[in-house]
Amino acid sequence: MDFDFTEEQVLIQKTVREFADNEVKPIAAEIDRTHGFPVETVNRMAELGFFGLSIPEAYGGSGSDYISYIMAVETLSAVSAAHGTILSAHTSLCTHPILSFGTDAQKQKYIPDLASGKKLGAFCLTEAGAGTDASAQQTTAELKSDRYVLNGSKMFITNGAVAETFLVAAVTDRAKGLKGISMFIVEKDTPGFVVGQAEEKLGICGSSTTEIILKGCAIPQENILGKEGDGFKIALQTLDSGRIGIASQAVGIAQSALDAAISYAKERKQFGKPISSNQGIQWMLAEMATKVEASRLLVMRAAWLKETGARYSKEAAMAKLTASATAMDVASKSIQIHGGLGYTKSYPVERYLRDAKITEIYEGTSEVQKMVIAANILA
Ligand code: CAA
Repeated sequence: MDFDFTEEQVLIQKTVREFADNEVKPIAAEIDRTHGFPVETVNRMAELGFFGLSIPEAYGGSGSDYISYIMAVETLSAVSAAHGTILSAHTSLCTHPILSFGTDAQKQKYIPDLASGKKLGAFCLTEAGAGTDASAQQTTAELKSDRYVLNGSKMFITNGAVAETFLVAAVTDRAKGLKGISMFIVEKDTPGFVVGQAEEKLGICGSSTTEIILKGCAIPQENILGKEGDGFKIALQTLDSGRIGIASQAVGIAQSALDAAISYAKERKQFGKPISSNQGIQWMLAEMATKVEASRLLVMRAAWLKETGARYSKEAAMAKLTASATAMDVASKSIQIHGGLGYTKSYPVERYLRDAKITEIYEGTSEVQKMVIAANILA
């Protein structure tokens, strides 16, 4: 067993940290306040090669491993969870599934532009009636001569207004139930593809979340990902991996909330001494630090299992369940340590709490993670 990171992993983390501190930190509060998508820093992420992390060089990626990508999501999310969301939805939910399930032609056509960040990606699974029950898809895809015609409506689509390459789940044969769901690659400029209403959210406000409407959206037959009926399994496997990304985002948020609490506790004086000298504060900080470290270890173990090619559904679910709860708890305690100031926008800790909440919801709620864990340990 080796807990050391490789030279390459350390270098990637350093590059992401410098970028996050120098270029993202100055705008993190502003994009949260204005709900503005950070076009310039996302372009810089493309220039720096972040969208190519964990993508083979043959497709224009950096050839780095999955752990490097996970470290990048954590490091970026520590400064701006919105930036972490943009990177992880793009990579985990669009580029990776095309890499895993696509034909050679699909990989050649779509991955280089995704890996370079020339185009952003998104994943359309959720519908008004298909949230936790992802199998209750109403969107349909009907094969008419050599084109699939898609009709339906998707919601809560991360990168919805800014992505150009979308994976869309749709029913090709309702009689077959789960095995009648298929996955498609849909390009934004296809007639009948409409970006709908943008959501106003509690947190991750600088990221785009929209409805996607498909109205007679006809795509080439060869844009099916995998075979007809493979869509549900592709979606669940994609989410297994995506959940490690969200867990690392949660660790990033939690780490920042902890760091902020430590530094405030050391500088804030009450009753003539720093509040960090109170045992009540020390115990809070000790528990917070332990939870952050435990969460990171679960995330890294799940990422390592994925890297080795082993099964990791249970470990990814455990990592997300634990890390998201940690992010909520640590952010809340960090506000408590900051007192009244923590409840204001003078400090970033209130943003950390708002950003943390989504990690308990998207890519499967905490209850879904427990369903996955239970199904695995009882199998
Ligand atoms: N990988 C591959 N296949 C899997 C799998 C996995 N991890 N888990 C289950 N399957 C297979 C099963 O083997 C089974 O196949 P067979 O019938 O051939 O045996 C099939 O899928 C059905 O399995 P289940 O009966 O366990 O499936 P279920 O319908 O009960 O669903 C669930 C279980 C865990 C609740 C699942 O529906 C789920 O994860 N729901 C949550 C969906 C979710 O995370 N949505 C978030 C959307 S993405 C998002 O957040 C938007 C964004 O942009 C960020």
